[in-house]
Amino acid sequence: DAAGLQRASALISTTPDFPAPGVLFRDVTPLLADPRVYREVLDAMAEPFCADDGAPGFDLVAGIEARGFVMAGGLAAASGTGVLPIRKAGKLPNPQVTVEYGLEYAEAAVESSGDLTGARVLLVDDVLATGGTLRAAHTVVERLGGTVVGSAVILELEELKGRTIVPACHTVFTV
Ligand code: PRP
Ligand code: HPA
Repeated sequence: DAAGLQRASALISTTPDFPAPGVLFRDVTPLLADPRVYREVLDAMAEPFCADDGAPGFDLVAGIEARGFVMAGGLAAASGTGVLPIRKAGKLPNPQVTVEYGLEYAEAAVESSGDLTGARVLLVDDVLATGGTLRAAHTVVERLGGTVVGSAVILELEELKGRTIVPACHTVFTV
């Protein structure tokens, strides 16, 4: 409900100059530890992608390392779907697909493997910042043969303008 979601936004912490000078870092970790808030945020993320009776309009939830995994696992278990982990570079021995991109404070790449032919995939992460990570993850899913039905995050950092490259991203909170 609205009161629960209000409580949730107060559980997102803000730290200046992390991980680099000038970056105002938002962390959703405290929110994940609150059972009611975690559940409310998961429901709010999935809502646009489910039918009125709750049936999911997706077969797989692709979560982006690391905090996106926590959202993907919860959403998949709640909806009776599966998880596709999208890894940051260097974690998989033989990734089938690698997509490189520029980040707010670093260079990065995302990787994954699997045959997603015929799968409807919901992409999830904790934060939409510049949007590079989500856009790269979208490309990973398509190169593995999947269809992206949409993307959802907990928090959009509006001033970083990620929406310009991930226009349809669904967000629970915006700062
Ligand atoms: C953060 C966040 C997203 C990404 C968003 O990950 O969890 O994955 O950055 O940024 P973008 O919209 O500018 O691409 P982080 O770099 O903190 O890595 P981690 O999750 O592995 O800790
Ligand atoms: N929090 C989490 N991930 C991020 C941020 C942030 O403030 N900025 C870019 N990626």
